[in-house]
Amino acid sequence: MELSHRLKSIPPYVFAEIDKKRQAAIARGVDVINLGIGDPDQPTPRHIVEAMHDAVENPVNHHYPPFGGSKEYKQAIVKWCNKRFGIELNADTEVTSLIGSKEGLHHTIMAFIDKGDINIIPDPAYPVYRTSTILAGGEPYFMPLTPENKFIPDLDAIPEAVLKKAKLLMLNYPGNPTAGIADLAFFEKAVAFCKKHNILLVHDLAYSEMTYDGYKAPSILEVKGAKEIAVELHSLSKTYNMTGWRIGFAVGNAEAVAAIAKIKSNVDTDIFKPIQLAAIAAFEGPTDHIDFCNNLYIERRDLAVERLKALGWPVQPIKATFYMWLPTPKGMSSADFSALMLDKAGIVVPPGTAYGPNGEGFFRMSLCLDKARMAEAFDRMAQHSITYDMLQAKV
Ligand code: MLT
Repeated sequence: MELSHRLKSIPPYVFAEIDKKRQAAIARGVDVINLGIGDPDQPTPRHIVEAMHDAVENPVNHHYPPFGGSKEYKQAIVKWCNKRFGIELNADTEVTSLIGSKEGLHHTIMAFIDKGDINIIPDPAYPVYRTSTILAGGEPYFMPLTPENKFIPDLDAIPEAVLKKAKLLMLNYPGNPTAGIADLAFFEKAVAFCKKHNILLVHDLAYSEMTYDGYKAPSILEVKGAKEIAVELHSLSKTYNMTGWRIGFAVGNAEAVAAIAKIKSNVDTDIFKPIQLAAIAAFEGPTDHIDFCNNLYIERRDLAVERLKALGWPVQPIKATFYMWLPTPKGMSSADFSALMLDKAGIVVPPGTAYGPNGEGFFRMSLCLDKARMAEAFDRMAQHSITYDMLQAKV
């Protein structure tokens, strides 16, 4: 059996690998604390689950769903986007359904990247940006995101030769894994830049509602004229605690939306109707669970900041997402630190390099466990002398 070059050219999916290591540790009897994947620990709100129950009982919903999302789903998206961001969208031409934003990102890349094309992506970034570009035969060009540039890339530093071959430029604010945030002024710059260079701007807004301390995340489509060049991918996973349901949507530039819908209709047959109906209940129902969960994440963030500071870490409170992007102990690689956390303390944290070359020297910690379990993780770190200056302390 010979695998395709395409498949051989990408690494295994980071969380599939981490899960294997986690399962192996559990099998050895380790009580593993998982600060790895970003999967909300709270349940999907009741009204959404009930809408699914009702819909699944109706045989009319058991058939193939319409390609690109049902009319009702697309209209509910238009209303939600209007209420949340003040943007106008045409449900027929500027909206399409996605089986979560991971699938949407992959298919957006497949729809636009050919062999030899460049996709300009942040580094570090959600691994799919890079791997799907390689699967499409293209080449990622990395825009470094660092604490020094506040995780905002310098678009003017992208070489002319790269811009000539680039078909896409991807952004993600609030950002995974860095928790970086952007304001509308940066989005205006990015839209003008992509228009000038005729590059489709793809904005991943999976964490739009997960924001704290008064910060509200803008949509890139709030920029005047953005629809001429931008498409935005949304997910219900994090906002509504629906990671397992696999539902999202793309909005914006009609040509890009049609391209995504075309490729998808050739490879999948959309989202089970009851899930779309549950998503409508999510858009139209009460939103108190969002504040409830955000308050939980704030409490966990504050605990993590306090306990990490006590272990010597330089750390600032995040204003969005449920990820903390932290430097590894001075002198230790990302891979070594991740392995040490699991081997010594039974704690899962992804190495920064899983998110791109610029992730070396960092690791990600998610806030998806209750405070007691998180406190236990910090207790274990202290107990095993896992501190920011642990290598210096040894000398
Ligand atoms: C993450 O933890 O970064 C992702 O949300 C998990 C995933 O989508 O695979």
